[in-house]
Amino acid sequence: MKITKICCIGAGYVGGPTMAVIAQKCPHIQVTVVDLNVDRINAWNDPNTDNIPIYEPGLSEIVAEARGRNLFFSNNVEKAIDEAQVIFISVNTPTKTYGKGKGMAADLKYIELCARQIAKIAKENKIVVEKSTLPVRTAEAIKSILDNTGNGVQFQILSNPEFLAEGTAVTDLLDPDRILIGGDTTPEGEKAINALVEVYSNWVEKDKILTTNVWSSELSKLTANAFLAQRISSINAMSELCEKTGADVNEVARAIGMDSRIGSKFLKSSVGFGGSCFQKDILNLVYIAKSYGLSEVADYWEQVIIMNDHQKRRFSNKIVQTLYNTVADKKITFLGWAFKKDTNDTRESAAIYVADDLINEQAKISVYDPKVSRSKMLSDLDYLATRSSTENENLVQVFDDAYAACNNAHAVAILTEWDEFKTYDWKKIYDSMQKPAFVFDGRNILDKKEMEAIGFVYQGIGS
Ligand code: UDX
Ligand code: ADP
Repeated sequence: MKITKICCIGAGYVGGPTMAVIAQKCPHIQVTVVDLNVDRINAWNDPNTDNIPIYEPGLSEIVAEARGRNLFFSNNVEKAIDEAQVIFISVNTPTKTYGKGKGMAADLKYIELCARQIAKIAKENKIVVEKSTLPVRTAEAIKSILDNTGNGVQFQILSNPEFLAEGTAVTDLLDPDRILIGGDTTPEGEKAINALVEVYSNWVEKDKILTTNVWSSELSKLTANAFLAQRISSINAMSELCEKTGADVNEVARAIGMDSRIGSKFLKSSVGFGGSCFQKDILNLVYIAKSYGLSEVADYWEQVIIMNDHQKRRFSNKIVQTLYNTVADKKITFLGWAFKKDTNDTRESAAIYVADDLINEQAKISVYDPKVSRSKMLSDLDYLATRSSTENENLVQVFDDAYAACNNAHAVAILTEWDEFKTYDWKKIYDSMQKPAFVFDGRNILDKKEMEAIGFVYQGIGS
């Protein structure tokens, strides 16, 4: 089967960039991205592509090239489903906030709604592709909905997990380490797999495209994220030991990273990992393991989250302790709110939890982030429901300029590793702050010696 029309349900951090790159690389395929959210689609269609709703380096240029040619954004979900041969599901799968599995299992209500909608509309055979990260064996549930509520139409379900990381989404998509496609081992399943392999072959070498059965593909995504997150929690665990023993975690990371069996990536000690995937996927893995009665497996992976929570709390405690055990009424400036650099995404960002702890200690928080809006920061804090929105509004000040944000502060805390922070005139910042002036570098991006030479009391992570 030759694919000429693709639809993607969900115009978020995964669906938007992925479809933009498919459209750019496959001009012969019409790609329509649909979403229920009218504002989001309007933003994707904004004539000025700098205003698209997701900030990713290089993305607005790709959208400018392909939009209107073979890339379309629309709220007309039904029409796009009807026309497409392949439907990607890229909707959100947050951790459940209610009922069985609350706080652990993935909430599949959006996925199920999509499946029901596809079943209702489809009049011809279709390939349905799971793009969102899902619990292992979700494809089975989707298949059951499609087969039992459809119009006799044949569906093939493929799992094609997305491995892009935010902030580098475009380069990850253009030059992926691998593409993973899981499908049925039946002849129809193999045909569907091959059709999707053909799409990716337009720009990815064939030997980087792996095909597996559906369950392996689904579980590989959870496993990859669990391993990556585990590396961060492992190095963060060492960072605490380094602080007690006089070792330096950056030196330890470098030394172990040169062992080719370990490798140097994902060994950067930090205030803790954030993002929409790691915590959610590990909790999901823990839930699945528990549901099969595998308590040792569940406990093993849960420890990665426990360590990460500890690291965030340890950072806020360190700030309080260093500032003479009280931060009440002190101005503490956060540089960065996003969960990592080069993204405007704040989901599960360490900044939210550190701010919450410090506000509980009655600190006055000022924030500067190059890409995150004030309303987003306040809604992140409101989501924790620790205090009223009005209180959050009164206690958090947001600046468009880092120097203004740091003016008169008792301490600066670096929560995101934005490159621009390294290029600041730190002497100027020092001069404008209360003395002694403290810097808590939650990302280890500044040079301790240089900061101390200026006069700062500098504390990084793990040294
Ligand atoms: C992750 C996976 O990398 C990606 O493959 C998957 O598709 C989605 O989840 P993402 O969450 O977008 O991607 O970003 P990632 O670069 O993995 O960073 C996650 C968090 O870990 C960030 O908060 C980052 O700052 C932190 N991190 C990363 C560290 O603290 N240290 C490191 O060495 C690497
Ligand atoms: P991700 O990071 O996984 O891409 P996002 O929350 O950024 O997650 O994007 C998911 C998108 O899916 C949201 O814009 C949401 O409005 C959309 N969505 C959820 N359910 C449906 C649905 N049934 N039909 C269309 N769009 C949906």
